[in-house]
Amino acid sequence: MKSHLEIILLSTILLINVQLSSSNERKFPKNFVFGSSSSAYQIEGGWNEDGRGLSIWDVYTHENPNRIADRSNGDIAADSYHKFDEDLKAIKELGLEYYRFSISWPRVMPFGNNSLINEKGIEYYNSIINKLLNANVTPMITMYHFDLPEELNKIEGFLNPSIIEYFKNYSDLLFDKFGDRVKHWVTFNEAFFVCRHGYGTAEFPPTISDSGISDYKCIDNLLKSHAVTYKLYKEKYFKKYDSNGKVGIALNARFFFSETNDTELVNRGLEFELGILAQPIFGQNGGYPEIVLKTIAENDKKEGLEFPRLKQFDSTWLNLIKGSADFLGFQYYSSRMILPISSELTGISFEKDANYNITGNPKWKPGITSQWYSVPEGLELILKWISKKYGDIEIMITENGWADKGELEDDSRVEFLRDHMESILNAIESGVRVTGYLPWSLIDNFEWNAGYTQKFGLYGVDFSDPNRKRTQKKSARYFKEVIKTRKLINQGSTKNISFTFILTVLIIILGIMATR
Ligand code: GAL
Repeated sequence: MKSHLEIILLSTILLINVQLSSSNERKFPKNFVFGSSSSAYQIEGGWNEDGRGLSIWDVYTHENPNRIADRSNGDIAADSYHKFDEDLKAIKELGLEYYRFSISWPRVMPFGNNSLINEKGIEYYNSIINKLLNANVTPMITMYHFDLPEELNKIEGFLNPSIIEYFKNYSDLLFDKFGDRVKHWVTFNEAFFVCRHGYGTAEFPPTISDSGISDYKCIDNLLKSHAVTYKLYKEKYFKKYDSNGKVGIALNARFFFSETNDTELVNRGLEFELGILAQPIFGQNGGYPEIVLKTIAENDKKEGLEFPRLKQFDSTWLNLIKGSADFLGFQYYSSRMILPISSELTGISFEKDANYNITGNPKWKPGITSQWYSVPEGLELILKWISKKYGDIEIMITENGWADKGELEDDSRVEFLRDHMESILNAIESGVRVTGYLPWSLIDNFEWNAGYTQKFGLYGVDFSDPNRKRTQKKSARYFKEVIKTRKLINQGSTKNISFTFILTVLIIILGIMATR
């Protein structure tokens, strides 16, 4: 009799457990894809091999080691130039459906132009593409991920309108050589970053400190380069390869929270950092956001400038840029609190035009530096903002990630990934068309000015080992499980399992006691 009671009790508990764990798991939509991202300068190394030309990052790190936290550079990085097979092993282990990597422009065009095409460089990327396809992984190529050929920097890079033609010729080469097999293209990685920090704040190469003038000029030329490339693809290659090929752009942004619910200020921040690039491409009427143009024009007037620092595109450009993307690659890392500016800035600058202050929030989970708070709700809110503003556009999360010191038992990265995937699911459920998640990054790599002091990889790389050994982290095992089950496994699962386990043991003890 007793044992019957125990059996009934145990089955009930088992049922409750199954119920508990399955009710916590949310499914990703059928066509949703999982991948991971990387970039050439951050992983390849081989900086002077097989005819590669110099990029601004080679010159910057070699000439200014003091600008990099550990005085390092990407000369060898994770040595993916020689070790792609090991990256591929990780890609397969994870079960990735997409792999996003970038082409080093000076590896295929050492001078940034058609005068010399480096066949060895083409061969390298051909082999990556073929190996990915053989493994059933869809390659996604970023054409520009911060590594401008130094030769083009000598003629002022993105400040010179001829960058439009140079970029078009470069993309023509890539479409021509790889377009038969590659169907997913991203023209620029984080256009705002390229322009603001390369030509405004001087934080990144080419370290031009001309906030409020050169950063806008860069944005203007970059958007035009993007649109011309999009047109080239549609006119010359789309039919040729009779494909479903897609060309997009990767834009990054943080969401802003206001303590006082100042939605106007939040909106202003988002327009200055995201709308300035997104609206010309994705906005129904195209063109720069009103608020941005209006403020800049007012400040031009105040400063007595006789030329506009940013003016609306003429109708030809406006129409060419408008609609020039098949998807938005969106990249999100963190958010900020936004506040009205405390004291009026003087002179000309982006900061003065934008006219807001930002801070962190002690309630958010802090990251390795104050730059990296984990704010998953910001991702959901910004996705909703984008979809409300630009309608039913396709969005792929082409980057999202967590920095640490390189721990292999990286629980905080597991939690970060889980929480951000939950935000994505929330956004999808409220109607935002997010079609993929490609977290940053497949392997640890050279983190720009932070050198090797901050790590983002799902796989660790031992940078002190000449073989650059890769090791799977806990986050890789977690992500693999999510990809396999296509479910948002709760961080969940570990916490829930232990919670339900304790509950089970308790009930059993009580049950046994009751039946005695
Ligand atoms: C992005 C960038 C990546 C990566 C990441 C982490 O801005 O595209 O290259 O470094 O940030 O900082």
